[in-house]
Amino acid sequence: MQHAYEKYLKEVLIDEPTLQARVAELGELITREYAGSDQLMLVCILKGGVMFMTDLARHIHVPHEMDFMAVSSYGKGARESTRNVRIEHDLTVGVTGKDVLIVEDIIDSGFTLSKVVEMLWTRSPRTLKLCTLLDKPARRQSEIAVDYVGFTIEDKFVFGYGLDLDEKFRNLPFIGVVNLDSLKDE
Ligand code: IMP
Ligand code: MG
Repeated sequence: MQHAYEKYLKEVLIDEPTLQARVAELGELITREYAGSDQLMLVCILKGGVMFMTDLARHIHVPHEMDFMAVSSYGKGARESTRNVRIEHDLTVGVTGKDVLIVEDIIDSGFTLSKVVEMLWTRSPRTLKLCTLLDKPARRQSEIAVDYVGFTIEDKFVFGYGLDLDEKFRNLPFIGVVNLDSLKDE
């Protein structure tokens, strides 16, 4: 059967077993590094970070809270961030005194996370670190220190495993490169 996503898929960049193995590794690393903490809180950046966070959390064997934040930085239909990062949904619990770990799908220009980090520091967490599944350093415009990176990738537009192509295909269990030619006639 032909799946709807196939039309947009140029190639699979990171297949499911490779993704899952790396997510497990990151979870083990985070488990070791936060072993003494009883204040760990995972902050998922919606919507892209949701698949990654739910899988990652299953490999973090330190008691922790979870909360969600939605931010938008793209203009509608655009594939690039703008500097205008808006908080669309804020955290529901406070972060003061907590060991906050931000969980994000991808860091591209860095505008989104710089803004989130700047905002969260004003709320006095004990520590604030960043974990991203994907990093595209070639496109960085805002300097940002990332503590945990799943995969460093080239400057390609990707989708799947939380990342959308015009809001769809977040459910794919792998990361694929978008065939940009397939979007021309839409
Ligand atoms: P930044 O502000 O440019 O770092 O953009 C970060 C956000 O842009 C990510 O959280 C994603 O939601 C989105 N994004 C960046 N690159 C891609 C991509 O290749 N595919 C899908 N979404 C992307
Ligand atoms: Mg995102």
